[in-house]
Amino acid sequence: MTDQTPAPFAGPKRVLSGVQPTGDLHLGNYLGALVKFARLQHEIPTFIFVADQHAITEWQDPAKLKGQVREITAAYLATGLDPKVATIFAQSAVPEHTELAWVFDCVARIGWLDRMTQFKDKAGKHKERASVGLYAYPVLQAADILLYKATHVPVGEDQRQHLELTRDIAQKFNHDFGAPGFFPLPDALTQGPGARIMSLRDGRAKMSKSDPSDYSRINLTDDAETISQKIRKARTDPDPLPASLDALEGRPEAQNLVGVYAALAGKAPQAVLDEFAGQGFGVFKPRLADLAVEVLGPIGAEMRRLLADPAEIDRILADGAARARALAQPTMAEVRKIVGFWNS
Ligand code: ADP
Ligand code: TRP
Repeated sequence: MTDQTPAPFAGPKRVLSGVQPTGDLHLGNYLGALVKFARLQHEIPTFIFVADQHAITEWQDPAKLKGQVREITAAYLATGLDPKVATIFAQSAVPEHTELAWVFDCVARIGWLDRMTQFKDKAGKHKERASVGLYAYPVLQAADILLYKATHVPVGEDQRQHLELTRDIAQKFNHDFGAPGFFPLPDALTQGPGARIMSLRDGRAKMSKSDPSDYSRINLTDDAETISQKIRKARTDPDPLPASLDALEGRPEAQNLVGVYAALAGKAPQAVLDEFAGQGFGVFKPRLADLAVEVLGPIGAEMRRLLADPAEIDRILADGAARARALAQPTMAEVRKIVGFWNS
């Protein structure tokens, strides 16, 4: 009798994630992703990169791209990633990402990519005018992850579908090339109250770098006055805060602000309601603003300090790239052999 279940991945646990250098980082990026990176680095070997190759799926000014990479790196460091503990690097410094992505382009099916909602959102009505890179974006993301045989990927809720695709690609590669257990089927780590922070202008839309209104988001580099003002102007409803989470249903803006408070304070949303039940936003918003300034103020200041010394950031990225390549090269050498390439 043959065993139907493929051999599981038997390698070590590894964390990997990345952020695109395409604009100012905001509270959603911080709570959905960056906070988790800093926490996980002490539990599992952690690889965090800046996705400059993903960034050019939509045109970026070549004169600014390196500066944008340094900014994201500064944000990683300012939110607690330690370059001696975690491996921090730029995606384009490790050419194996795109080499593996080509192999995965030949593994992934067009039908799988056709279902990706992020492509549909970004391409909009004129999808025939979007770049081929934007369409293949999730395949490069799968290569980013599997090149390091990563098992855990901390991301916001919006990336869940890309992680499912990554698992599908890993499974099909292992199966089609007769390499059971070669790639792991990685898990998305999306838990926590910050997994989906909503816009301050519309509780039904995600807080996003690409929202044209700067008042929709709090940027990590906003000063105290700007943070307070954005929270004061955030859309809300006229009712006081309720005593139970159920009563927040149908009040997306109130639900979001309670969630933001909870995530920033490291408390459960119910604990926030226990404290503020019966109070209106006239009381709640100033308290939230104080908390946001207390948490984000030092991060913005640290980013500015780090960016004043770009040579130090470049040194950290060079060191990280060397460490990342030391892991990426053997994986890619194995993949070439498995696929039967001439250069293996
Ligand atoms: P954006 O969607 O603003 O362009 P990115 O796509 O660069 O941001 O996302 C970087 C990381 O931040 C990803 O892990 C993503 O899931 C997370 N993230 C982005 N927006 C939010 C949000 N509003 N709430 C929680 N996490 C988010
Ligand atoms: N697609 C991710 C985002 O938009 C960025 C990203 C690229 C990523 N490659 C990755 C995240 C690999 C996690 C793992 O935020």
